[in-house]
Parts: sequence; C-alpha cells; structure tokens
Amino acid sequence: MVGPAQPLATSEGPRRYQLFIGGKFVDSRSGKTFESISPHDRSVVAIAAEGDKPDIDDAVAAARAAYEGPWSSMPPGERAKILLKIADLLETNAMELARLETLDMGMPMIMSGSMGAVSADVFRYWAGMATKIHGLTAPPMRPGDYLGYTLREPLGVVGGITPWNGPLIMAVWKTAPALACGNTVVLKPAEHTPMTSMELARIAAEAGLPEGVLNVVPGFGPTAGAALAQHPGVDKIAFTGEYITGRLIVQMSTSNLKTVTLELGGKSPHIIFDDVDLEAAVANALFGLYMNSGQICSAGTRLLVQETLYDRFVERFVERSRQVKVGDPLEFDTRMGPLVSEEQLRKVQRYVEIGKKEGAELRCGGGQPKDPTLAKGFYHEPTVFTGVDNKMQIAQEEIFGPVASVIKFKDEDDAVRIGNDVIYGLAAGVQTKDIKRAHRIAKRLQAGTVWINTWHMIEPNSPFGGYKLSGYGRENGVAMVDHLTRLKQVWVDLNDFTMDLFG
Ligand code: NAI
Ligand code: MG
Repeated sequence: MVGPAQPLATSEGPRRYQLFIGGKFVDSRSGKTFESISPHDRSVVAIAAEGDKPDIDDAVAAARAAYEGPWSSMPPGERAKILLKIADLLETNAMELARLETLDMGMPMIMSGSMGAVSADVFRYWAGMATKIHGLTAPPMRPGDYLGYTLREPLGVVGGITPWNGPLIMAVWKTAPALACGNTVVLKPAEHTPMTSMELARIAAEAGLPEGVLNVVPGFGPTAGAALAQHPGVDKIAFTGEYITGRLIVQMSTSNLKTVTLELGGKSPHIIFDDVDLEAAVANALFGLYMNSGQICSAGTRLLVQETLYDRFVERFVERSRQVKVGDPLEFDTRMGPLVSEEQLRKVQRYVEIGKKEGAELRCGGGQPKDPTLAKGFYHEPTVFTGVDNKMQIAQEEIFGPVASVIKFKDEDDAVRIGNDVIYGLAAGVQTKDIKRAHRIAKRLQAGTVWINTWHMIEPNSPFGGYKLSGYGRENGVAMVDHLTRLKQVWVDLNDFTMDLFG
C-alpha cells in the first residue's frame, strides 16, 4: 500500500505529454493535442499529443528498426536485466503512478495504490521468463540419422491497444511479455486515460530500454488505433476492449494476416448456494461487483442465488450496497469512485431505465449520489436489481458499472444453465461449502477463469482470457509465450552418406 494522498494534481495544472517514439518524446505530426479530464470534477488533468496514422507509421518504423537492431539479438539475460530495472522503477514510482491513475481514471486509491507493485510483479515474472523461452528437439520417427530441433523466435512488432479501466496494468500486460519474448512494441492507450502509459514510457527510458523497443502513441480508436490494427508492418495485435471493437480489429488484421489476441469483457455469473456463510458470501459478492465502480471486465455482475437463500441474501446485499462509501477516489477511505466518463455514466443510467422497463425490481441506488461535493463528477450509486430474468437485457449485456442483476436459481443444473446462457465467457464464480459440487461446477462453466469462494484472483503466472465472445488467446502465464513467438523447425542430416535419389 502507499502513504497518504498527495495534494491534488489538478491544483498543479494539467500535465503535458508528448508521443514516445524511437526513444524520444515528440509532438504529433499534426501538432494536435487532446485533453483528459478527472472524472471526479471534470478538471483537465492531462494534455496529450494526439497520434494518428503518420505517427503510428513513425512508431512502427522505430519499432521495426529496434527489433532488427539491438533487441531481438540481445541475449535474453540482458533483456531480463532491463525488465527487472523497469520493475524496480514501477515500485519506487508506485505512489505517483497511483495518484495519476486515480486523477485520470477515477480508480480509488485503495486499488490504484497497489498497481505499481502489481505491475512490478508482472515485469519480474516476464524477466524470469525471458531466459526460459526456447525450442525443443524431437528424434525423427523414421530410420536415419537426422537432428531436428525447433527455434522459438519473436514475432517482430507487437501492437497493444488498451482500454481505460486499468490503464497502467493493461499497458504492462501488453508490454512486459512481448518484450520478454524479444518483440518490440507500439502501444496505443485508451483516449480517456493516457497518463500512466506515458509514465511507463518515461520509466522504460530511464531503465535503459533501447530506443524504439517501446513506443507509446496516445490517440483515438478510429484513427490511431485503426492505423495500428491495419498496419502491414505490425505482426500481432493484443487488444482489450469491447467485443464490437474486437471484431473490427480482426477485420483490419486481415491486411497482412497478423495474429490477434482479444480480451473482450463479460457478464460473469457469481453462483451462490444456500450452504454458504451469509456474511462472507455477501462480502465476496460486493468485492466481485463494486471494485473500480464495476468497471472490470471480469466483474461478477450476475448474482445467481439459490432460491432457498434468496430472500436472506438479497436483504443483506442491498443493506451492504447502501453502505458502500462512494466518494473522491483520492481519499483513502473511499471504496467506490466515479465512472470514467460522462459517456459511461449515461450508459449506466440507460441500463437502469432499461432494467425498470423490463420489470426488474430496483432495490437500491439507480441514481447519482446526493453528496453535493460529488455533483460535478460522473458518480453513480451502487445499484441492485432483483427479480431479474436471465433473458433481460440487464442480465445479458455488459453494463460496466456498479449494477447488480440478482437472479434466482433452483439447483446445480439450473445454476449452470443460467450461468452459461450469455454470449460472454470471461469469468465465473461459485460459493459453496460443498467441495465436490464446487469442482463439478467449475468444470461445467464456460469461462476462462472460475473462482471458488473468492473473486478477482489474477496472477502473472496464471492464464487469463475468454471463452465465446469474451475473446481468444490468453494473457499472463507461460501459455502467452505461444501468442508472442513462432516456431521454426530445423533439420540437419547427420548421416555420413548423401542420399542420391536422382543419381
Ligand atoms: P473500446 O473497445 O471502444 O476501446 C478500447 C480500445 O480500443 C481503446 O484504446 C480505443 O481507442 C480502441 N479502439 C476503439 N475503436 C477502435 C478502432 N476502430 N480501431 C482500433 N482501435 C479502436 O471501448 P470503449 O468505447 O472505451 O468502452 C465501451 C464499452 O466497452 C464499455 O462500456 C464496456 O462495456 C466495454 N469495455 C470493456 C473492457 C474490457 O476490459 N473488456 C474495457 C473497456 C471497455
Ligand atoms: Mg468506443
């Protein structure tokens, strides 16, 4: 954790950021900039250079030169040392990074305060991995003395396109593994939240990462993002965001058949059986849903509660939801900050209206907090709908806000059926004391992560990703090496005669 909150950066005036290309901080070719505002009070916290296609071209050229230059041929042990240095700097800068993340995105300090350390862990894991990426040998199956081995090679230039809901950790997920595998990177952070990605660029430069190995180009999706996804000089795109955008990325990738991995959000079921300890189950459900104001792709937004527990659970969950401390995310006792943007607030408000029209029962929240000190911000109360039918829009669509849809189920089969009955499959969870049932259900749920009696466990060494419209490919863990390298098979003739078939 970090120390007490520093003075507001808003009183310091906005920070100015340039693009980071080829190891230098430069203006955009067009000279254009865009503002990023604090979701707490709408004050301008950053003015960033606005990248577009010409800047992406520059960044890809710089990344290619660095790939063919020092980076792909650098011994992995040397690459690892630089990644470890970045990890150290992420940790020593953790307080400042937390403050900037909170100002830019509205993530409460209780969460942003740990992101520097979490990001450092990711870099350290991949620094260790850098020296363990290698090919294999397999003896030929037929007679004859041949040596066959594989080389595991980097892809080249990797484009990372990140969302606004966890700006630093998303930038780190796109960057650390790609670099460890010997690729160079062009990162396009989300337009709402450029700050900590630009700080990562500064840290990488300070750590001695050779110029061009990491390039960061803030800008908008349809311009800078699309230019990166379409670019013939990019070998792979790693994308996190909504599935509609993910589909576009795949379409754009066909120009040069670059590979794509997609992490695309969800509508995760949190299944709660009647044998649980009620207080613990409620605490876990609150944690799974309200972290980061519900703006987490793997949030447990559908609470599936067994009918025999339903009334007792709902009563306590609503009571606890009303007590969640909503406030300025820079305050250390705040548990829920604002939503990231006015657009996101409107989206949540729209879904609240939809829920009411669909006939779900609004049990608490549903509006903006009454506290006048929050009136300028994009705040929304913790909101609980009960009596939700899984067919309703509020049960099927990703709201990305602090809105619970509570659904009743009868038994194990019913829970699994409802749990799987969505287009998404990112995460799921089950709470029960019956270990056999817990593992049976874990097997049957169509989701990339299943949590049993917990939520939000995500670690650098464990794969994270989706089933169905939650995307494909995995981030974190050794499985990711497959997405960031390719194999080359080499054959050597060791026989002391030459086969002369055409003699
Ligand atoms: P988005 O998918 O539009 O944006 C994510 C990233 O993609 C940003 O960097 C954006 O600039 C870029 N992008 C957008 N259009 C692009 C294009 N045509 N070509 C290339 N890049 C493009 O998500 P957005 O609009 O910020 O949020 C909308 C909804 O998406 C949210 O309400 C939420 O439901 C969902 N979402 C899911 C996330 C997740 O973690 N899975 C993260 C953020 C949003
Ligand atoms: Mg969008």
